[in-house]
Amino acid sequence: EKGKYEHFMLKEIFDQPKAIEETLDRNLSDGGRVSLYDMTLTKEDFAKFNKICIVACGTAYHAGLVGRNIFEKFVKMPVEVDVASEFRYRDPFVDEKTLFIAISQSGETADTLEALREAKRKGARVLSIVNVVGSTVARESDDVFYTWAGPEISVASTKAYTTQLLSLYLLALYLGDLRGTISEEYYREVVSELSEIPEKLEKVLTLRGDIEKLAKKLYDRDQVFFIGRGMDASVAYEGSLKLKEISYINSFAIAAGELKHGTIALMEPTTIVVALATQSKLFDKMVSNIQEVKARNAHVISIAKEGNTAIEEHSNETFYIPECMDEVSPLLSVIPLQIYAYYVAKEKGCEIDRPRNLAKSVTVE
Ligand code: M6R
Repeated sequence: EKGKYEHFMLKEIFDQPKAIEETLDRNLSDGGRVSLYDMTLTKEDFAKFNKICIVACGTAYHAGLVGRNIFEKFVKMPVEVDVASEFRYRDPFVDEKTLFIAISQSGETADTLEALREAKRKGARVLSIVNVVGSTVARESDDVFYTWAGPEISVASTKAYTTQLLSLYLLALYLGDLRGTISEEYYREVVSELSEIPEKLEKVLTLRGDIEKLAKKLYDRDQVFFIGRGMDASVAYEGSLKLKEISYINSFAIAAGELKHGTIALMEPTTIVVALATQSKLFDKMVSNIQEVKARNAHVISIAKEGNTAIEEHSNETFYIPECMDEVSPLLSVIPLQIYAYYVAKEKGCEIDRPRNLAKSVTVE
């Protein structure tokens, strides 16, 4: 039920603090350890693997991109991420030393399922991150990590994405611990940061009114870019997909450092650039990228962490997310992008929960 919300998408955006809380509750012990009671993967099994391969489609793929950074950092192993429709046709190098991770909200996406079957045929161990209990992907996997987002009705995925991200963090902590690649101190720090996310999400959701006002002002622009570096680039892809799928605006995401290798040629005074600058180490680099697009008169909407006010003089608008560890910022920075997509689509009179040409679950190849 939509309750007080006009659309399922808006309800699901606002469901996120609760959904994250639920995923945390189900997987964290009182002592702050990740406890995966149903996991059959042992320390000995894990010692055999020499790479992790993450495969998914659409939004779930974007979660996988963030997952790569996290796994590389916590588990210290080579990690590949691919879209299922490419992975399954390129004769990927996968064997019994591969941990294959499929991510899917529905657990019924045809390409993801076929990629999983291909990986299994090649001997990989399959772990899936799935929202729908008992779905085909879940049934065909060796282990399943459920995201516990609750039913997601809107075609545009929101709470499934953030709970997929959280599942990847928890899994990376768990595996990093099994493998001895994460220090006790860092483990505790990440757990404590993750535990603070529901409260911080509530704070980010209060940006709703300001974002709605902005959407009313800018909804008729026909070109929107999303830029970022590091994990912010992965969030940029997700923000762009959200906007295009429900508002039909031609939007495009790119790692900010790649702009000057071609894409910056498209900047015009009517172009909107949504710039994510939440990664401390990359902040100055992002500011110079913002200056580059600003010099071409683009309209810049920035997303930064509270306190980083230096960005304001280069941006037309700035939205702040609460201070947090860089590693967990995707859980917060995607929210303003979801809300922006929602209000732009609403202003344009689009059918938000059921966008044209799209299905909630893509069961055709
Ligand atoms: O059910 P799945 O997570 O496997 O679905 C994958 C994509 O089809 C899905 O994320 C799609 O990109 C969403 N409509 C995005 O909002």
